[in-house]
Amino acid sequence: MFLQNADLTLSGLDDPELALWARVDAHGRIEGTAGFELSGRNALIRSVAVAAPARRTGLGSQLAQFAFDRAVEAGAERAWLFSRRSGPFWQKLGFVSADRDELVQLLSATHQVTEFTATGQLGREIAWSRALSQRP
Ligand SMILES: CC(C)(COP(=O)(O)OP(=O)(O)OC[C@H]1O[C@@H](n2cnc3c(N)ncnc32)[C@H](O)[C@@H]1OP(=O)(O)O)[C@@H](O)C(=O)NCCC(=O)NCCS
Repeated sequence: MFLQNADLTLSGLDDPELALWARVDAHGRIEGTAGFELSGRNALIRSVAVAAPARRTGLGSQLAQFAFDRAVEAGAERAWLFSRRSGPFWQKLGFVSADRDELVQLLSATHQVTEFTATGQLGREIAWSRALSQRP
C-alpha cells in the first residue's frame, strides 16, 4: 500500500532474493522504504520512498545510502535505477543519466526489468547509474 501510494512497482516484492527495508515511526507507521535487486556486480535500486509528511528532511537520502551500503556488502560495484520524476534527488546522490539498454542487459534477470519489458513501460523509463565504490 505504501509503495502503491508512492506509485512504485510492486513486482517481486515477495521474492526473498529482493532486499527491502522499511523504517517505521513509534506507532508502527511506515515512514520510508528502500531496497535493491542484485545481479552479479550490479544492483538495481528499488522502492526508495518517503511518506509525504516526512519528505525533504534527508530521510530519502539516508534510506538510499542504507540500500547502497547493503548492496556493496552483497557484492555490488554499481547501482542502477529507473526514475522518471525524481532525477534531481538521484543526481544529488551522485547518479548520472545512464543507457537504458545497458541497464536492461545487465539486469535482465530482475523482476523490475522483466515487468517493465512485459508491460511496455520500459520505453517510458529513464535510467540512472553510479559507481558504488565512491561516495558523491
Ligand atoms: C524521491 C524521494 C524518495 C525523496 O525523499 P526525501 O526524503 O524528500 O529526500 P531528501 O530529503 O533526502 O532530499 C535530498 C535532496 O534531494 C532534493 N529532492 C528531494 N526530492 C526532490 C524532487 N522531487 N525534486 C527535486 N529535488 C528533490 C532535496 O531538496 C534535497 O536537496 P538538498 O539537500 O539540497 O536540500 C521522495 O520524494 C519520494 O518518496 N517520492 C515518491 C517516490 C519516488 O519517486 N521514489 C523514487 C523512485 S525511483
